[in-house]
Amino acid sequence: MSTPNERRLTQARQAALEAAERAGIDRAFISNLVETFYGHIRRDERLGPIFEQQIGDNWEPHLATMKTFWGSLVFHDGQYAGRPMPAHLRLKDAVPEDFQIWLGLFERTLDEIDAGEEAYRFFLERADRIGRSFQMHMFYAPGE
Ligand code: HEM
Repeated sequence: MSTPNERRLTQARQAALEAAERAGIDRAFISNLVETFYGHIRRDERLGPIFEQQIGDNWEPHLATMKTFWGSLVFHDGQYAGRPMPAHLRLKDAVPEDFQIWLGLFERTLDEIDAGEEAYRFFLERADRIGRSFQMHMFYAPGE
């Protein structure tokens, strides 16, 4: 027997899975998005060095973390257990304009991988919203 709460969670997860399927988003899609996007990031003259400095030789785990992160947002599978805020508060050289570059590369990647309209909107909206919340903490309410 499941509790009403468990049933609601299952229903919410089911709805998320159906929405993902309609939008053509599966694990392979997310993997391609993440790999292609961080390829651009690493080659970017401004963002590349910022990432390199933090990540160094640990790109494989970072890419795996990012696939899990996006998978959790898409499939509501609860697999991402990280805390992104502290990771970004450590970036002492980052400035608000860097988020414009980040989002521009993300949008370009969605174009390149031929994301359908719904997938495009889903990822871009989430990235924009999360990026804004990082910026609030990093630049406008530091120390929180
Ligand atoms: C200028 C923009 C950004 C820069 C320079 C940046 C940089 C970084 C770096 C260097 C790391 C690795 C931190 C570490 O391992 O110590 C990281 C992790 C991460 N970033 Fe960003 N990031 C940016 C924007 C974003 C945005 C917009 C999102 C969300 C859509 C995001 C989501 C994440 C997540 C989920 C992690 C993994 C945190 C963890 O669990 O370890 N980042 N970022």
